Amino acid sequence: MSLTGNRMDDRTDVTTDIVSFHQVEKRYGSLQVLRGISGHVRAGEVLAIIGSSGCGKSTLLRCLNRLESIDSGEILINGMQVSQPKLGSKQLRQLRTEVGMVFQQFNLFPHLSVLENLTLAPRQVLNRSPQESRDRAHHYLHQVGLSDKANMYPDQLSGGQRQRVAIARSLCMEPRVMLFDEPTSALDPELVGEVLETMQTLAEHGMTMMVVTHEIQFAREVAHRVMFLDRGCVVETGNAREVLLNPQSDRLRTFLNRLRQG
Ligand SMILES: Nc1ncnc2c1ncn2[C@@H]1O[C@H](COP(=O)(O)OP(=O)(O)OP(=O)(O)O)[C@@H](O)[C@H]1O
Ligand SMILES: [Mg+2]
Repeated sequence: MSLTGNRMDDRTDVTTDIVSFHQVEKRYGSLQVLRGISGHVRAGEVLAIIGSSGCGKSTLLRCLNRLESIDSGEILINGMQVSQPKLGSKQLRQLRTEVGMVFQQFNLFPHLSVLENLTLAPRQVLNRSPQESRDRAHHYLHQVGLSDKANMYPDQLSGGQRQRVAIARSLCMEPRVMLFDEPTSALDPELVGEVLETMQTLAEHGMTMMVVTHEIQFAREVAHRVMFLDRGCVVETGNAREVLLNPQSDRLRTFLNRLRQG
């Protein structure tokens, strides 16, 4: 990796990539949101994505999960060409099972219990039996530390607990990669820690993760690599500690200073 000028990826081994994207461009009308960005996430790796509001972080995640189409470039998820113009419904379903997504808002069904929220998609999408779905749900509820909440309803839980249920719900689909879009930014400050801890445990279990976050300490300590976006471009990317402790660009230095003051 070059430490001079803009840090960019420099590597030869692409065989273990779960996610890779090349020269991705995305426009909304005349607004160019992603300006030819490239990156990758290897199996078991955590990539943190940071950058100012409006720089294109959520758009990137939405393109990777094909919630949005792209204008040019290429996206591969576990070897599947996500960016091809006509993605069949079978491939789309496969993509949805391979890519878990956790948003700022938890999007749990309020009229279903925690257990029912967790077993719904495995039963309907993966055709798992009710018993197997329940067993998995209990397993992942245990992993996020909420074994005792299976029969509660979302509005009986704290925000942090709801987000951990949303993470468990994603895990029940046994995805190859999890995309997190600011999973803690809607939470009261005292609830942020428990969700970050859950994510750290996931990372320690070897889950492949892309995490959009403003939690720089989390990025530094849990992420393997970080990608800093500014106005739709990758300005710096590389080892999380190196990049965050020793930013090379004025834009990243300014961004980090602003976060520290905020
Ligand atoms: N569906 C849409 N239609 C039109 N413009 C959009 C749409 N979605 C996003 N944008 C615009 O694209 C730009 C990037 O948005 P995006 O949500 O990716 O930013 P972000 O980096 O996630 O910001 P934040 O940190 O505030 O979440 C913004 O200018 C936004 O207004
Ligand atoms: Mg966003």
